[in-house]
Amino acid sequence: MSTTEKAARVLKSLKDEEWRTLAGVERASTGYGTPDAGRVSRMSRLPSERVGFATADLERKGLLMRKGRGFALTREGVEAMALKDYVKKDLIFALGAIIAKGKESDVYEALTEEGTIYALKLYKIGRTSFTSVRKRRGSEDAAFRSWMTANYDAARREYHALKMLEGLSPSFPRAVAYSRSTVLLEEVSGVRLSQRPALADHRAALGVILGLIRTAYLKAGLVNADLSEYNILTDGASFWLIDWPQAVAASHPNGADLLMHDILNVTSFFRRAYGVDADAQRSFDFVTGGSRTM
Ligand SMILES: Nc1ncnc2c1ncn2[C@@H]1O[C@H](COP(=O)(O)OP(=O)(O)OP(=O)(O)O)[C@@H](O)[C@H]1O
Ligand SMILES: [Mg+2]
Repeated sequence: MSTTEKAARVLKSLKDEEWRTLAGVERASTGYGTPDAGRVSRMSRLPSERVGFATADLERKGLLMRKGRGFALTREGVEAMALKDYVKKDLIFALGAIIAKGKESDVYEALTEEGTIYALKLYKIGRTSFTSVRKRRGSEDAAFRSWMTANYDAARREYHALKMLEGLSPSFPRAVAYSRSTVLLEEVSGVRLSQRPALADHRAALGVILGLIRTAYLKAGLVNADLSEYNILTDGASFWLIDWPQAVAASHPNGADLLMHDILNVTSFFRRAYGVDADAQRSFDFVTGGSRTM
C-alpha cells in the first residue's frame, strides 16, 4: 500500500485531538526544528498529557515519527492532513485508483460526492534522498524541513500557475485547490505525447501546441519551463499542457531562454516522432507574438 492509500485508510479513525496534534507538529516544524512534546502542546493548545496519548497513537498509525526528543510528520501524516482538508471543504470524499506514478509525484483519482473525478497530484520530491538522509543523524532536521518546503512549495506554485491560466483554454487543467504537498486538479484524458499516439494532422497538432504555449506566454505571462512530450497529454484530437510547478514569469531574467528550451523540446520531438519540420526561431517568434503564424 502506498503512503497515500495508508493516509486515506486512517483518515476516519483519527480523533480531533490527533488532528490538532498533527497540525501542531506541522506548524512547529515549518519554522523550527523538530518540536518536542512541550512545543507541540503549546502549538496545538492541548494539555501535555493529551499530546502524549495523541503522539503515541499517531506514531502507531504511521503519521508521526519520533526524532530524538522531538516529533516529525511522516509523508502519510502530511497526506492525511491534505486529504482531510479537501474532505472538510467538501471537495472530495474518496480516493480512487492511481493514475500515474512519477519521479516527482503520484497522481490519484479523487471522487466528489456528485461523481466528478479529479486528479489529485501528491508531490514526492526527494522521495529517496529523504529516506537515506534520515539515517544520518545531525542533518536530519534540515533534510526534513527542506523536504517539506520543496513539496509544499511545488504544490502551491503549480496551483498558482494554473490559476493564472484558468479560463484561457480548456487545454490547461483547472486547479481546484491545493493543500500541503498536494494539488487537486481537473482530470483530463489522454496519453502522454511521448507515447507517439496517432494524430490526424501532425503539423496542425504542433500548431495547436505552439498556440497554447503562446496563450500561456501572451495572456498569462507564463513560461512552463519544463515542457516536453512528457508533459503534454492528448487523446489524438485535443491536447493538454500539464505539470506547471516550475513555471516562471515571462519577464523572468531567464524567461526567454526557458521558453526557447520548451519550444525546442516540442519542435524536436515533432521532428523525431512525426517527421514535422519546424523552425524553432520562427516558432519562438510566433509564440512571443512577433508573428501570427508558426
Ligand atoms: N490533470 C490531470 N488529469 C489526468 N491525469 C493527470 C493530470 N495531471 C497529471 N496526470 C497524470 O500524471 C502524470 C504525471 O503528472 P505530472 O507530469 O504533472 O507530474 P510529474 O511529477 O512530472 O510526474 P513525472 O515524474 O512522471 O513526469 C501525467 O503524465 C498524467 O498521466
Ligand atoms: Mg511531468
